[in-house]
Amino acid sequence: MARAGKQVFIALLVTLVACSEKEIAEKQYTEEWYAGGVNGTVFNATSRAYRQPMNAIAGDPLLYRQFMRGERIAEKSFVADSTMSFSGLGPVYIRKSCVACHPSYGGRSKRVDKFDSSDSRNGYLLMIYDPSLPDLPLASTYFTGMTQTSAVAPFKPPVNESGVHIEWLPYTDEHGNKYDDGTPYELIFPRVTIDQSAILFPDFDMSRHAASIEATIGIYGVALLDAISDEDLRARHVAEAERGYCPGVIGADIDETGLNPYYPGKHPGRFTYLCTRATLDNGPGSNAIWNITNVTRPDRAYHYITAAYARASAADPDVQQALGRTGEEIYARLMSRELPPEMSAEDYDAFMVWHRGIAVPAARDLDNPVVQRGRALFHETGCTACHHPSWTTRPDYTPLPALSNQKIFPYTDLLRHDLEMHEPGRARLCRTTPLWGRGLMQVTSGYADMLHDLRARDYPEAILWHGGEAKPCKEKFRKMSREDREALVKFLQAI
Ligand code: HEC
Ligand code: HEC
Repeated sequence: MARAGKQVFIALLVTLVACSEKEIAEKQYTEEWYAGGVNGTVFNATSRAYRQPMNAIAGDPLLYRQFMRGERIAEKSFVADSTMSFSGLGPVYIRKSCVACHPSYGGRSKRVDKFDSSDSRNGYLLMIYDPSLPDLPLASTYFTGMTQTSAVAPFKPPVNESGVHIEWLPYTDEHGNKYDDGTPYELIFPRVTIDQSAILFPDFDMSRHAASIEATIGIYGVALLDAISDEDLRARHVAEAERGYCPGVIGADIDETGLNPYYPGKHPGRFTYLCTRATLDNGPGSNAIWNITNVTRPDRAYHYITAAYARASAADPDVQQALGRTGEEIYARLMSRELPPEMSAEDYDAFMVWHRGIAVPAARDLDNPVVQRGRALFHETGCTACHHPSWTTRPDYTPLPALSNQKIFPYTDLLRHDLEMHEPGRARLCRTTPLWGRGLMQVTSGYADMLHDLRARDYPEAILWHGGEAKPCKEKFRKMSREDREALVKFLQAI
């Protein structure tokens, strides 16, 4: 009897152990851990977490070779000297490389107090716009949408960046910067000014214009966002509009189906803070490799330049003398639509393989009880109204078929909202930033500045800047106990 009892006990123990191992295995690999879907996620939480190829790339020798080539193109500083590799920089430009603004690819840049484009922490784009009109149009007669502050001699930049000033000012909210439990917090926001003397164009009146800064968003996983169908995006917009949310979807690019009910003939925008870009093929990276550096390629055989800049440069005696050309010749060259390509089609293709192929780091710690508490709070508080947890990509993503049918967890609706932020610059109506992978920023970069201009120095400050449509959410956060606030942040760090 005793022996039989012991055997039963052992059998039971074995079942129990097996069971709990199985449970752990199941818990660890529920779909939420795969932030980028099964095919778009890597389990890597190191300082290199944002720069890993997806398995579909790493497992294919040809694609992997292109990925590595593309990575070099994104990392190398381009030069003006045409006898060297990675040449084609200028005549006027914003930065020399992608990583100049996107450190570790996904990390956002660092909040800085000086606009110095040679400072590797400074990933700000500078925008000059007309604050008197409701849609805050860019001063695009004079400046390119992303303002150029560098030039290859003898050319001069449209804006001399030593005359750009960023001031960080304190902000006090209607609660005197205190949580409900009395704990104080501090908020700061940027004000950007540009000296008139820093502007190349004598007839441009800076006093009638304003300037603002926008910081980088992650590069990893953007192909998975590209793979969400237009129909799903439109349905989300309709659902949120019915709840009184978000006027802010905007169209970008031509949609042959003509199905966009808000902007007929256009795909719904999904990339950048203002949702100005709808597809990766004509998206922020594909454009940046041309317009950030002004490197021409077969399908972009012209410069990112304004006619006003070309005129000013052509009329500049220093430029005429240095180049030994007449003003007309210089103008014609700068404005030509048939410049020789400085980047080959093969290199551009390799660059796009890299761009599409960067995986999303897997979530971490989701089985920690504090994180689970935070997850429940994230849902109960209503954060998911905009930070929509999950999407399923379309079944036929031809540029990288492995990314079809993936259940992904970017925590964004890809739509724009008005958070009624104090002095938001041009990003007043701002796209909900994806939260995936963001918790690794301290590991990859050593800081975690957030929001479109990096005014938030950590997660709580980012949440405390949520007003407007998100104000009820923010208020619930302010009223939470310290323990709950910390649990919510732990969840954000885990995804
Ligand atoms: C001057 C700094 C700067 C450089 C250099 C730069 N970017 Fe960006 N990038 C930004 C900013 C700022 C944003 C945010 C977009 C906005 O302003 O709305 C952004 C956005 C993006 C996005 C969109 C992410 C999203 O979720 O919408 C991608 C992708 C991207 N950049 C890729 C690249 C690539 C690839 C390169 C190199 C060819 C590059 N960028 C060079 C500043 C830069
Ligand atoms: C009404 C829509 C909305 C709701 C609700 C909302 N957010 Fe946001 N969230 C946004 C938008 C839009 C941004 C980008 C704002 C910006 O950069 O200026 C953002 C940005 C963030 C960021 C910064 C991300 C980054 O990398 O810059 C965090 C963190 C965040 N939200 C967390 C939360 C949490 C937590 C909640 C719930 C308490 C919440 N949000 C509720 C729309 C919303």
